[in-house]
Amino acid sequence: MCVVLAATQRSMTTMWRLGKWQFLGRTAQRGSVPCMRRVGYGEIMTPHLLTTPIFYVNAAPHLGHVYSALLADVQHRYAALCGRDTRLSTGTDEHGIKVQQAAAALGVNPSNFCTTVSQQFRTMFDTMAISYTDFVRTTEFRHTEAVCHFWKKLDERGYIYKGLYQGWYCTSDEAFLSEDQTVESSDAEGNKIRVSVESGHQVHWMSEENYMFRLSQLGPKLLDWLQTEPIHPAPFLRIVRQWLEEDLPDLSVSRQRNRVSWGIPVPSDPSHTIYVWLDALINYLTVAGYPDHNFTPWGPSIHLLGKDILRFHAIYWPAFLLAAGLPPPKKLLVHSHWTCNGVKMSKSLKNVVDPTECIKQYTRDGLRYFLLRHGSPERDSDFTHHTVRKLLNSELADALGGLLNRCTAHTINPGQCWPYYQCNSEPSAAHNELQGLLGAVKELPGLVDQYMNRFQANKALEAIDSSVRCSNAFFQSQAPWKLFKGDEEDKAWGQSVLYITLESLRLYATLLQPAVPILAKTILDRLGVPDIYRTLKGNVFFAATLGEKYCFQGQTLGSKCGLLYPRLDLD
Ligand code: MSP
Repeated sequence: MCVVLAATQRSMTTMWRLGKWQFLGRTAQRGSVPCMRRVGYGEIMTPHLLTTPIFYVNAAPHLGHVYSALLADVQHRYAALCGRDTRLSTGTDEHGIKVQQAAAALGVNPSNFCTTVSQQFRTMFDTMAISYTDFVRTTEFRHTEAVCHFWKKLDERGYIYKGLYQGWYCTSDEAFLSEDQTVESSDAEGNKIRVSVESGHQVHWMSEENYMFRLSQLGPKLLDWLQTEPIHPAPFLRIVRQWLEEDLPDLSVSRQRNRVSWGIPVPSDPSHTIYVWLDALINYLTVAGYPDHNFTPWGPSIHLLGKDILRFHAIYWPAFLLAAGLPPPKKLLVHSHWTCNGVKMSKSLKNVVDPTECIKQYTRDGLRYFLLRHGSPERDSDFTHHTVRKLLNSELADALGGLLNRCTAHTINPGQCWPYYQCNSEPSAAHNELQGLLGAVKELPGLVDQYMNRFQANKALEAIDSSVRCSNAFFQSQAPWKLFKGDEEDKAWGQSVLYITLESLRLYATLLQPAVPILAKTILDRLGVPDIYRTLKGNVFFAATLGEKYCFQGQTLGSKCGLLYPRLDLD
């Protein structure tokens, strides 16, 4: 369904479609430009449930955790900006041997331990402006209820049986591993140990009677699900296809309670504790209201996760859902890792970066911008303070902050108003430059939309940055401060240059809201943009170029805001 809002009779008759954007008015003498009208993205769709992984409480939040949550937040905010009804859930994963051991090491009761660390995650996400609509803890009653109901469903449908589990177990990853998922290695003292090939964490041989899940029966159904290409970016889909070509043994889904006491007991057999990953994955159902009678559509659900937990989300989770008679997830958005000197940032390796420290140095939006812009779903990114400083100086302080300063400076705009756009019909070099700028700018919202739909916030930000640079170059070469000293025609063109620059900045700030909400607000406030013009749904850009009357012309700018983002010392 296409939604065209605020289109006037005149513009409706002159518009034609280009992709999802409509450009109103074809042409162009100096200053006469295509005008964009937003259609399509703001369509009313079924509510989306977007989820982050739930975070282990065995350690305090670090930058890698923040990244997982931030990627989900930017998708959520972008969907809301387009007028979609979306929910974002996050939370903490509180059961299992790891948490049991961490609490025991501190000599504290696991429940109090969980509450403390869970609150640290919540505070960190609030500080980072993660706009979650639900925060679930696996120790909550609503979750236990969902897990027990789900277990009974699996049991009723014949997917659970009791059997002897023998194999390797990796406590750090809470994962059962086959022989070829492990290799021999040695510890710091040179002792021979066995480790997980994927994570490098130590594994131990385990032999116990457990409840098993008939994963082996679900291979064909999982392959059918993969046909819908639910995993992005594509390389991760290929990895999962490969895994499914290998053996798919049944999975142990319980641990004996005398070994793992911190968890949800198996409903029919309290001498067993439900496997922490089955417990944890069900959080996505808990936040959707399961097992309430009104629990309607499970999905369209979009799970965001790091590549280290791909197997759990791309094999176990859809398999559990299919076995319980529920639809598998709609999409899995998978991201890569932050490294320090090429090594994955992780608490156990003691090489984590503290987000609180980064916020102190770079501000919350500075850190958000860096992580989103420099991190990449497809490949690992290395974190260094030098890279952060260089990037923020170049893109936030110089390019974006510079553009805002230039077009709102008292020297160039003493009346502190949006000027009137005045069209001159003579073709000229200036006209060509304007067309060049608008050529880039008119593509921008569509490009950003494509990138966001492909889960590439980094590329969306790169595209915005390059348009910001085009606006700066246009402003510099048209030099309105000189035009204002010329004849009437020059002055009129100077006003138009200023108008176009302010309007392009309004577009950039609108598009930047999901990534850097405070900085974008600062810009929009400075431009005096009312709230109804801050959305992507039905917003019209550059309409003055078609002779539409208001479009901010004559409106006063907002009050001064000082430097948008201060330059950082490179040392
Ligand atoms: N509790 C499980 C998830 C259960 S979801 C049903 C878990 N927790 S975690 O705390 O270890 O990780 C949570 C998220 O943080 C994962 O998406 C993981 O990939 C991410 N990160 C942890 N370290 C990371 C980096 N160094 N870089 C980027 N993300 C990383 O796994």
